[in-house]
Amino acid sequence: MIPTINAAITAVGGYVPEYRLTNSELEKLVDTNDEWIRTRTGINERRILKGAGSGTSDMIVPAVQEILNKRNMKAEEIDCLIVGTVTPDTIFPSTANIACHKLGAVNAWGFDLAAACSGFLYALTTGAALIESGRYKKVIVAGADKMSSIVDYSDRTTCIIFGDGAGAVLLEPNTEGYGVLDSLLKSDGGGGHHLHMKAGGSVKPASIETVTNKEHFIYQEGQAVFKHAVKDMADVSYELLQRNNLTGDDIAWLVPHQANKRIIDATANRIGLPAEKVMLNIQRFGNTTAGTIPLCLWEWQDKLKKGDKLVLAAFGGGFTWGATLIKWGC
Ligand code: UT7
Repeated sequence: MIPTINAAITAVGGYVPEYRLTNSELEKLVDTNDEWIRTRTGINERRILKGAGSGTSDMIVPAVQEILNKRNMKAEEIDCLIVGTVTPDTIFPSTANIACHKLGAVNAWGFDLAAACSGFLYALTTGAALIESGRYKKVIVAGADKMSSIVDYSDRTTCIIFGDGAGAVLLEPNTEGYGVLDSLLKSDGGGGHHLHMKAGGSVKPASIETVTNKEHFIYQEGQAVFKHAVKDMADVSYELLQRNNLTGDDIAWLVPHQANKRIIDATANRIGLPAEKVMLNIQRFGNTTAGTIPLCLWEWQDKLKKGDKLVLAAFGGGFTWGATLIKWGC
């Protein structure tokens, strides 16, 4: 009998820029205050990638390099790089192509995948399918965003939330039942107008008018997004557990997208997980969009034990949302 191939995460890498944008610094830019930001979002500071000419690929490269160093692997061994991002270096070529070139991953193909805050889960599920097919042996999935490139630092409703960062995982075949076990991914384009960028695409290309109207920044109706996020991220996590005959007691860690601590708490409550089983770094990194989940795995990797079951959950622009069940294998 041919054994089932699962895609196991066999190494994790991450990168956050050095510059810390604190709540008190934001107080100088917009009409806000540290207490409001902390109590409404859970964020104390976020990292910002400084330097002209620096883009999302410059955060992916060190994250992937960390994986290569840990596994004593050469860049030439990478089969494929999938990048979840909404802040690509350029519209084309893809950030995956640019990062592969910078890394020297000359045998890899790759592509970018735009699913906003669910970008890492969509990319992970896609990368896992490449491994499960038996066709590829080493697939790297990155979630990375330079949100500071699309944040309006005069808009107090968005500039307090977002930060820059990148995380990446190596997927390899496993026949002992470790790895990505199930994924439940959803989308609803009807919610798109609540969280989007108004211009810069084919419908409304960049013009003097779009720049003047600040239409190349994030537009978010916070409350509407919040209401959907609280319900949908919790529901999809619950549904994933139910269809795998699991309860919160079977789960070692919830790895939630870090958009707002209140959304994370609602998801943890719904699936019955106490705070000590929830990965939380929003206070230090803010919302790095596709970067949040792999950055949690990066920070928590030493605490993870072989066989731990993890639920990864996200909600974001699109709307897109989903949850993934993983049996930790390294
Ligand atoms: O990751 C992608 C998906 N995104 C999300 O999941 C984000 C979801 N949304 C949120 O996290 C929250 O909606 C926000 C953090 C964006 C906003 O928090 P909120 O509790 O929903 O605030 P609100 O928009 O209901 O505003 C409450 C009050 C308003 O004042 P009034 O009308 O009550 O006088 C706002 O003008 O807070 C005011 N406000 C602020 N005050 C100080 C809004 N932003 C700020 C601010 N500082 N930065």
